[in-house]
Amino acid sequence: MNLSKNRFVDSYSFISSFRLFSFALIQALLLALAYNSLNAYNLSPQDEENVKTKVENLISQLTLDEKISMVHANSKFTIAGVERLGIPEWKMSDGPHGVREEISRDSWDPAGWDNDYSTYLPVGTALASTWNPELAYQFGVVLGREARAREKDVILGPGINVMRTPLCGRNFEYMGEDPYLISQMVAPYIIGVQEQDVVACVKHYALNNQEYERFRVNVEADERALREIYLPGFKAAVQEGGVLSVMTAYNKFRGKWCSENKYLLTDILKDEWGFKGVTISDWDGTHSTVDAALAGLDIEMGTKRDNYDDYYFADALKEAVENGQVPVEVIDDKVRRILTAMIKSNVLSDDRYDGEFISERNFETARKVAEEAVVLLKNDDVLPLDKTSLKSIAVIGENAALEQASGGGSSAIKAKYEITPLEGLKNLLGDEVEINYAQGYKSTTTFDWEGGVVDTSKSEVDFRANMRNEAVEIAKDADYVLMFVGLNHHFDLESVDRPDMKLPYEQDKLINEILKVNKNVVVVLVSGSPVDMTMWVDDAPAIVQGWYAGSEAGNVFADVLFGNVNPSGKLPFTFPKKLEDSPAHKLGDYPGEDLTVNYNEGIFVGYRYFDTYNVEPQFAFGHGLSYTTFDFSNISLNKETLTKDDNLEVKLILKNTGNRRGGEVVQLYIEDVEASVDRPKKELKAYQKIFLEPGEEKEVTFMVNEEMLSFYDTEKSDFTAEPGNFIIHIGSASDDIKLSADFNYVITQ
Ligand code: BGC
Repeated sequence: MNLSKNRFVDSYSFISSFRLFSFALIQALLLALAYNSLNAYNLSPQDEENVKTKVENLISQLTLDEKISMVHANSKFTIAGVERLGIPEWKMSDGPHGVREEISRDSWDPAGWDNDYSTYLPVGTALASTWNPELAYQFGVVLGREARAREKDVILGPGINVMRTPLCGRNFEYMGEDPYLISQMVAPYIIGVQEQDVVACVKHYALNNQEYERFRVNVEADERALREIYLPGFKAAVQEGGVLSVMTAYNKFRGKWCSENKYLLTDILKDEWGFKGVTISDWDGTHSTVDAALAGLDIEMGTKRDNYDDYYFADALKEAVENGQVPVEVIDDKVRRILTAMIKSNVLSDDRYDGEFISERNFETARKVAEEAVVLLKNDDVLPLDKTSLKSIAVIGENAALEQASGGGSSAIKAKYEITPLEGLKNLLGDEVEINYAQGYKSTTTFDWEGGVVDTSKSEVDFRANMRNEAVEIAKDADYVLMFVGLNHHFDLESVDRPDMKLPYEQDKLINEILKVNKNVVVVLVSGSPVDMTMWVDDAPAIVQGWYAGSEAGNVFADVLFGNVNPSGKLPFTFPKKLEDSPAHKLGDYPGEDLTVNYNEGIFVGYRYFDTYNVEPQFAFGHGLSYTTFDFSNISLNKETLTKDDNLEVKLILKNTGNRRGGEVVQLYIEDVEASVDRPKKELKAYQKIFLEPGEEKEVTFMVNEEMLSFYDTEKSDFTAEPGNFIIHIGSASDDIKLSADFNYVITQ
């Protein structure tokens, strides 16, 4: 039985290419086939039956000791196999944007291999900025291919914790602030990974929205916030992506550790959503034996204890079974889940995909994702630059020459290569344009991790002033100045949050000094989270959000700046002007008190807050400019009244009115005009990314249904839509609505 029939076909691109054919019947047939094979784990009833039989057969032969050996770590990243039954060790690896460097079996020291490279894929926020599910799928395919080539069985990603605060050190790994966007991106990512015979592990379930005190903090969030904001991404991972494993978060939720939170693990994940896969604790995130085992944790992974028999799910669990505290059926259920995931990813088959190591096409995918990830935040007719009319450019900033792949914590990878922005510019411009580089600021030694100045001795102050002067000198005479500033992985970093939203290392000062001597400045921000730009945002004529854009970052930045690539990325989260503008901070509900953080902003996270409370962001959710222009027109609804179980068709025309090919994300938001509960001003409910040639236009169609109108009704413990008036807003960003139309929703008996 070959369960991943589609392993050599990129289903999403398959679908795209067939869109070109006009022969409707063939297209429909082939599309149906392609969609059918999107999820390799959407097995036929017969295949499901076969898997079940195999699993039960194995379980019936396993001893209690063997079962126990499978539910806890036996090295940093494996659980034991059972050799006599042909069950191999199950090998896991981080992480979300590349297969992690090989570390030693029993310690965190690098294993010292020389073939443990991977393609450095753009980080989660970059992927989310593409708003392109097809790219999320291809991203997953690359990760899966390389995981197999490195003989991994489980890849510990994607990470999808909602961005609640701009300060969270791991924002860069995640997919932004909007549950709908996250859901759209997470499912194809997982499908891409799992089609390569690798299990994806969506993390961190749930409410791990800050790194500060992540091992101890208790999160209190109301049911609506939980259901409407923090869980939809995980639900989509399970129900649309068919994810085969879920990693529990470190924190507590409503007083219970996530790794032993029955409400999250059993009631919601397994019972309500029907999750049949494996729950895996975050490393050293298990705190009990009986509670965790009964609450629904399946595997304990860890780091601290040297002896694996001392794990909660090792000797202590066996004892708990023997003394009747944990029924053996509970252990069987855990093992059943593990074996099912193994069989579905062909671990026990001799026909398993053996992967593809850092191939050209893998790098090509990294490049495509980066190209669509770059967000043009501001452009006062500066970009794109024309290399034929330029003599010299000044490139300034440490980030221009810094490789980023090996930082950030568990998501760090050993990139086979990484093109820095400076290298990318040199690759593109060759000898045609003179490039002068000055670092301008320095991230090490004279600053602490928070970026604050620690050494104020005269020599250090002079040293920093000299760096700036050097930059100013080269900027003076340049035709254009390209500044690569922002953060780095001292800030976008696991286990710590940033102290504030400011640019570290006196970069504001540097940018302002440069702007005084040259007006043609392009600021490229390399970061995974928003920074406070208020000191220079009005004066800088062009600002680009580049993210940590992977192996091909530098080439892509150069292509965007010089117009070979027309930017089409859109922000997956709001960039506030000031930290205090963002809701958790406004309410003083970060980082919590006495180790409890109350999510008092409820559902008003990100643009839901900025919109509803009329707080002007620096750059809004969904914002991103292009080198071409788009016109939105002719919105029409096929009916004035939507009834339950029916669909409303929304049509509009999108036209490329500029003179370049370009991509626009048509965003559909819904406003509930009057509701019995507080609702956000509007919420993203659908979108389409569309590429058009100059002058080309396209009719865009959306279907609206009851589900898209609903909120979580705590009295009914379910989503509900109330009858009344709703407005559809179509925009190019959450703060740039182009068209609106309203309709009534009625419930007929
Ligand atoms: C992180 C996880 C990661 C694990 C294994 C933990 O500290 O929170 O995301 O997968 O380590 O490296």
